[in-house]
Parts: sequence; structure tokens; C-alpha cells
Amino acid sequence: MFEHVAPYAGDPIFRVAAQYQADPREKKVNLTIGLYFEDDGSVPLLACTQIAEQRWAEQKQPRVYLSMEGLESYRNATQQLVFGADHEAYLSQRIATIQTLGGTGALKVGGDLLHEAYPTSQMWISDPAWDNHHSIFGGCGITTNKYRYFDPQTQAVDFTGMMADLDTLPEYSFVLLHPCCHNPTGADLSVEQWDELIVLLQQKKLIPFLDMAYQGFGQGLDEDAYAIRAMASAGLEFLVANSFSKNFSYYAERCGALSVVCKDKAAAELTLGKLKAWVRKIYSNPPVHGGAAIAMVLTDDELYQSWVNDVAAMRARIHTMRQAVHQQLAQLAPHYDADYMIKQQGMFSYTGLSLEQILRLREEFGVYMLDSGRISIPGLTTENVEYYAQSLAAVV
Ligand code: LMR
Repeated sequence: MFEHVAPYAGDPIFRVAAQYQADPREKKVNLTIGLYFEDDGSVPLLACTQIAEQRWAEQKQPRVYLSMEGLESYRNATQQLVFGADHEAYLSQRIATIQTLGGTGALKVGGDLLHEAYPTSQMWISDPAWDNHHSIFGGCGITTNKYRYFDPQTQAVDFTGMMADLDTLPEYSFVLLHPCCHNPTGADLSVEQWDELIVLLQQKKLIPFLDMAYQGFGQGLDEDAYAIRAMASAGLEFLVANSFSKNFSYYAERCGALSVVCKDKAAAELTLGKLKAWVRKIYSNPPVHGGAAIAMVLTDDELYQSWVNDVAAMRARIHTMRQAVHQQLAQLAPHYDADYMIKQQGMFSYTGLSLEQILRLREEFGVYMLDSGRISIPGLTTENVEYYAQSLAAVV
């Protein structure tokens, strides 16, 4: 039936993660997929979610359908976390939020809504990108393009190139942005650059779509949401996808949200209706288990504090590993510029290695990073960090 359809080449991230799993060598390092590992190499199950899951199980709630938009408490707590409980946009109820199937689900519903409302508009995505952004929005029927983002020379954002590219876009073009911890480069805009960009977006009447999958992994939960809050304060109308996969270590529960910041409460109500219509067409309504636990954590003072501490510990461990690699490479390979380890932030960094070097690392040393040279920092631990630095030094 499907012989005429092109075979699936596999996902560039999951494919290398599977290669790592299949490698029988004992000594190997997994820097592929964006998963947070503890220093002992395990993926944490946070105490706050365990307690919340147990409390919820004890309530013995019947599993009736949720509404299309999801749990009210989850949606409300998400708005407070992403926008800030004292933000005017939140207080005036001009944000329409739905519970989604991870951040990916939020991008899909948002993409469908955008394409329905602006069928001729195209999407601009950072170069380089999280590859799935092109796939998701392409799947919504949106033509995707790239804007300049990363300068390998400075290992930082090519802000001049980015602004120049966005300046040429037609009105109502969609612009995909990462508020923090850019995936795949780890290079983020400064507060001043965000402020400058917001002016441009407003002047050119562009429609921003902000994808925040790593809130709390950069500078802090509030700091990482700067761009979102500043954009809402400036009066822009835009979309935000956020994910709890990483900062709750809750990948398999598929918990995320899509928020649309509107000009007023009436517009938000109308938008919520449109979002519900899309959800009904795609998957009808979200599952309850993970969402109920997250809502419980975010609305209980003690559990919330425990979670904030967990996120701070994850952020600190990533920071420590960045410093450790940087220090070791300064000695082992002084000719190789590893400043990106301390200049960039969040889960990922771009090593700037060639494909040949990347393949050598895999084959000779069992060190797995993506073909693009992206590394997921939490795959590094006290135990393997020296081995990683030595392996890298051997190929550069
Ligand atoms: C990643 O970029 O590794 C993560 O966001 C996982 C994924 O779904 O690609």
C-alpha cells in the first residue's frame, strides 16, 4: 500500500541515540539526545512528582475525558510560571493557554492555527535549528526558511545577521525563537538584544512563536522567561510553546502547553475556542496523569519549593560540567578554542567539530554526539568528563 511513499530516513537525534544504546562497549559517553542525567548517569525521578503522583492516585479519580484545553489548574499554573503571576497580561486574562502533548504538541497545534489564520505566511527558523521545527511546521503546511543565527567564529549569536534577515520579511511572517538555551547551539540573545529585536518584530508586524523547552536551565526560572515577559509587556501578540519534559524530568508524560498572548480578554476567549477546535481535530483532549501531578507540584508551596531546588541543582550541575571540560581542554588541547563551553548555556553546545572528527570520536572512543557537532552536556559526569576531554583532545 505504501511502496510509493519515500521511506523514513530516521530522526537525526533519535538515530544517533539508538546507535549509542547499541554500542556494546562498556566505556562510552552519551551526548546525543536532550536528556538530563544525574552525576551517577541516571535520569532523575523527582521527589516532588513522586509525591504528587501518589497523592493523585490516592484520590482515585475516575478517568473521564479532560476538556479539549486540558486541566484548569495546570493551565493557570503554567501561565503563572511562564509569564509571572504579577504580569499584566496574566492578570488581565489576555492569554489563551491549552495543555499539550509536550512542547512538540504545542508547536503542532500552534502551527495549524497560524496556517489557518495566515495561509500565505511563511515561517523563519534559526540556522542552525532543532531539525524537528522544520518538520513540524512543514507538516502544518507552512513553508519554512532560515534566518542567520550562529557565528562559528565568535561561537555566539550573529545578531547583526539575524536582524538583517528578519528586517526583510513580509508582514505577518512567523518567526520561531528560543527564549533561552538555544537548541542546538546554546548561544542566546542578551537582554539588550531581545529588547532591540522586540522593536523590530513590532515595527515589521511579524508574528513571533517562542519555543521554551528549557526554562530554568539557563539563568533561572524567571530570568529564562525574560523574552516572553518583555514581549507581552511591549504589547505584541504571539505564541509560546513550553515543555515540562526537561525541567520536571518528565519526558514520557508528554506535558507541555501552548499559550497565545492576545490583545485583550475577548480576543483570548476567541483564540481559546480556535485552539480547542484544533485539539478536537488532532487528538480530542490531553491525558491526565502527568498534567495532574505537575499542577499539584506547581500549586503546593512545599512541592513547588522542592521542584525549584531540583531545577537549581540541575542547572548547577550543567554549569559545573561546562567549567570542567573547559578547564581540561585548556591544558590538553590549548590550540582548540573551547570557550563555547563557558560562553553558551543550557543543555546543549556546539563543538564546531567536523563530521570526520565526530565519527572518529564515535568509532574510536565511544563518544557519541550529533552529526552537527551538538553535545548534550548532562551526558557528562564526574566519572567520564576527563575521558571526554581526552578523547576530544585526541581528534582536534
Ligand atoms: C533534543 O533536541 O535532543 C530533545 O529536544 C529531544 C527531541 O525530541 O529531539
